[in-house]
Amino acid sequence: MSFDSAIKALSLDALKFVKDDHVIGLGSGRAASTFVKTLSRFVKTQSSKIKCVPTSTQIKLVAEKGNLPLIEVDQVEYIDVVFDGADQIDKNKYLIKGGGGALLRENILMSLARKIVILADETKFVNNFNRSVPVEILPIARRGVQSQIKRLTGSSPSLRELERGYAFVTENGNFILDCNFGVIKNPKSLQQRILQIPGVLEVGIFTKKPDVIYKAKSNGKFDVLT
Ligand code: A5P
Repeated sequence: MSFDSAIKALSLDALKFVKDDHVIGLGSGRAASTFVKTLSRFVKTQSSKIKCVPTSTQIKLVAEKGNLPLIEVDQVEYIDVVFDGADQIDKNKYLIKGGGGALLRENILMSLARKIVILADETKFVNNFNRSVPVEILPIARRGVQSQIKRLTGSSPSLRELERGYAFVTENGNFILDCNFGVIKNPKSLQQRILQIPGVLEVGIFTKKPDVIYKAKSNGKFDVLT
């Protein structure tokens, strides 16, 4: 048994939140991909009017392979339900997002969502966040934002890079700073302080609480937290 089989099983269960005429937000990453593959099989067997809004090219490609009907986020005023993964989930049910760099679009979709469903394995659950926080920034503000985050928090953010030193560029043409704040005791205030720095476009601490969180377990089973 593995997390993979648990994520497959919970993806099937999560289909109960999908209605025939829904606008569905597709998050990015491994768990979201498993859900999207499951959704594709389900939609094939339905006379469905659903529309899917992707948060990245990564998930768009998975959805395209499954022949899911796609529209862009600028065409919708709301999302009925968004399904997404998370990098960490704390005791407040806040999320760290952006490990794959899609945080800005993911947060736009979540802000429009009437229901948020998160799919994550049990290793992602912590009392207090303790992993790095992705921050999407305008490239011209790189040095300034780095030094302001350092002044505000004492931590030195590092520019996300690909192999051989190429800068990672988001699908919005921006850079990501990965910020190691150690154990985060007050995520909301940290998020607010960083969001106020000019040049910061998104902070990977999401404080809009999910409606449903699926926790995949290593024995292949899952828990549902509401
Ligand atoms: C993408 O930017 C992220 O927010 C992902 O949703 C997050 O990294 C979870 O991905 P996995 O399901 O692959 O762990």
